[in-house]
Parts: sequence; structure tokens; C-alpha cells
Amino acid sequence: MEMVVVGMISGTSYDAVDAAVGDFSIEDDTVVLHPRGLRSAELPGPIRARIAACLPPAPTTIEAVCRLDTELGQLFGRVAAEAISALAPGGADLVVSHGQTVFHWVQENRARGTLQLAAPAWIAEATATAVVSDVRSRDVARGGHGAPLASTLDAMLLLDGERRRGSLNLGGIANITVRDGAGAVIAYDIGPASALLDAAVTELTGGRVRMDGGGAMAARGRVDEDALARLLDDDYYRRPPPKSTGKELFCAAYLHQRLGDRELSPDDLLATLTELTARLVADACAAHGVEELVVAGGGVRNPTLMQRITALIDPAEVRPLEEFGLPAQAKEGYLIGLLGYLAVHGLEGTLPSATGASRGSILGSITPGEGPLVLPEPASTPVRRLRISR
Ligand SMILES: Nc1ncnc2c1ncn2[C@@H]1O[C@H](COP(=O)(O)OP(=O)(O)O)[C@@H](O)[C@H]1O
Ligand SMILES: [Mg+2]
Repeated sequence: MEMVVVGMISGTSYDAVDAAVGDFSIEDDTVVLHPRGLRSAELPGPIRARIAACLPPAPTTIEAVCRLDTELGQLFGRVAAEAISALAPGGADLVVSHGQTVFHWVQENRARGTLQLAAPAWIAEATATAVVSDVRSRDVARGGHGAPLASTLDAMLLLDGERRRGSLNLGGIANITVRDGAGAVIAYDIGPASALLDAAVTELTGGRVRMDGGGAMAARGRVDEDALARLLDDDYYRRPPPKSTGKELFCAAYLHQRLGDRELSPDDLLATLTELTARLVADACAAHGVEELVVAGGGVRNPTLMQRITALIDPAEVRPLEEFGLPAQAKEGYLIGLLGYLAVHGLEGTLPSATGASRGSILGSITPGEGPLVLPEPASTPVRRLRISR
């Protein structure tokens, strides 16, 4: 059934709430997406501060969690309503909300639980539209990592080219989707992207600046090979996929613990952390024989990081996601929209080979909009491809 879907997420960087609006339909084994556009609302300072105060290793209270869940739900609701009035004046059929990850519980390389906040009742209330939320838990309940969910979109849109392609997202964490030697889709979190860059800048500036804008500091600095070796010496990188991680591990405290007594100038620290991400990406590309790397996420706007990735993966080539019809900034929003659209059609939103689950899952929980919940007819056959229509 053709539906106007709003896909929403605030990523681990908690920089902004992104709402991507698109028309989705199914033709045979193909989901057709006509992207209408992205609305991105910066997270207000006070909410950012309250998220930061809740994140590990900080202790928190159940009161703080309740307040944050409510405030984020209200914020997502406002952004959804704005996105609908700007991009879908005739109304939307479905809102899909990833919410804000506040804890991703991984122990002995298994995901045990995962928690995203932004109470869906407020989103349904603000939009009078049904909401799919909590899109990771079902996969975790089937033994998967609940991540990287991007693998679903990547497999449907990007991995069928002639050349061996990889799909990279540079958010707080970097994740990649590739095919393994046997052709199965695998995906995993490579390690930190902006998580450590943002943590370092935030700490160095006492919170006044929160990112290395344009990669300027990293461009001025020099890579400290000793510090880089200390950073690379982490068991996480040696573990085989499937695997997932988050800011529970890659936070400011982690930096201090890894670097110990090694003192770096601010610019050199940023250069070294930027090189860390580029090296991890290049190692992953080499391990999977990637010939073309499609890159998306906020890290695309960091030219120093992109230059280092381009240099280190050579002769493999970087290809912007835009060449495949989606803006790099909007990928995660459309991905979340896709997962909800699949869910309400009774279609699985995960690939067990990618997340490590025992089987694929129909994702999410559904909150009714105005009036009774009416779902489309379940799709009669599985879908395999995503086509972007202009
Ligand atoms: N102009 C820029 N210069 C450098 N880094 C940037 C720029 N714009 C965004 N970023 C980086 O991208 C991050 C946000 O990327 P995003 O894909 O939204 O991540 P997430 O999914 O974790 O929220 C920011 O925290 C920042 O580190
Ligand atoms: Mg973001």
C-alpha cells in the first residue's frame, strides 16, 4: 500500500532530531521510495545537557529517565508535526521513531538489551498519526545485536553492484555493511567516528564547542603514532562480527584510560582520533576486499576525515550516497521510515546474517493515532530491493 511515512531518529551524537518524509510503495519484490525531504531540528541545549547527564558512566535516576523520555517524546512530536506540515500537507500515514539511544547493553559480545527514549504517545498525540517505535528490541530478543539496522537498507539499495561495495555510516559510531566471501550480508559497528572526536572537543573547550567543525583542528595537528597504537589496541576491534558498540564504551573516560600519561596538544589529539577512525575504516575495507565505499552520515562533512579515508582505502573509491539517490544526511531517517513501512506490512526489517539474530524480525511496537488502528494488508511476498524514485 502506498503510504506517506515520516522516519525519525536522533543518533548517538545527539546533535539533531532528523525527520525524513517519503512516499513508500511496493512493486513486486521492490520497495519504491520517493523522498520528499528532510527536516532536521537541532537538539535544544538543555535537553542535550540532560542526555549527557544520563549517559554512562554517569549515574542517573529513574526520575531523570522519565523526564527525558517525556521531553524527547514531546520534541519528536513537535518535529514530526512540523515535518508533516512542511512536506506532507495532505497528512502522513505513519510516523516511525527510533528515539534516542541512551543505553546499548552489550556483554560478552552479545547484546542483552537496548534502550531508546522518546515516548511514542506524545508523537501520536502531536500528529494524530500511528507511530512505530522501539525498532531494535525484537532483534535483540532473537539473539541479535539490534544493530546496525542500516544493513537492511544497504542490502536493498547498495550491495548488488558489479564491484564489491561496502556501505559506511559515519555517525557517533562508524558502521559498515558488506558481503562476506560467501555472499551473505554482514554488518557491524567498526568503532568510534564522531563519538571520540566530539568528546575530545567538548572536553577541551569546557563544553563551548562540541565538534571539530570542518575537521580544522585535526587538519592542523599531527598524528601521534604512540597514542594511535594505544587506541588501536582494543579487544573490540579484534572481535569477529556480528558486533555492536556505543558510547557506553567510547566516551571521554575511555580516552583518558587509553591514553594514560600520554599528553597531546589539542590539534594533535584530534588528528590522532581522526586517523583512528580512518584506519579502522581502511582495515575493514581491506578485510572485505571493498572496491567501492558508499559513505553517509555527519562525518561526510568532516573533510579531514574524508581525505584520510580516501587516501587509506586507495585504490578503492569513495562514492557519496547522493549518487544512489539519497542525501547522506537523510539516510538514517529514510532507513527508519523503511523499517516501519516494512513492519506494518508484516515484512521483516532485519537480516539475521547482519545482526546475528536467529531469524529476521518484524520490528517495532505500534501506538495508534487518532481513532482505531488500521493496518495495511500484509504483503504476500518478501521484498528484496529498494528503488529511489525522483
Ligand atoms: N561541519 C562538520 N564538520 C565536522 N564534523 C561534522 C560536521 N557536521 C557534522 N559533523 C559530525 O557529524 C556528527 C553528527 O553526525 P550524525 O550522522 O548525525 O551522527 P549520529 O547518527 O550519531 O547523530 C557530529 O556530531 C559531528 O561530529
Ligand atoms: Mg545525528
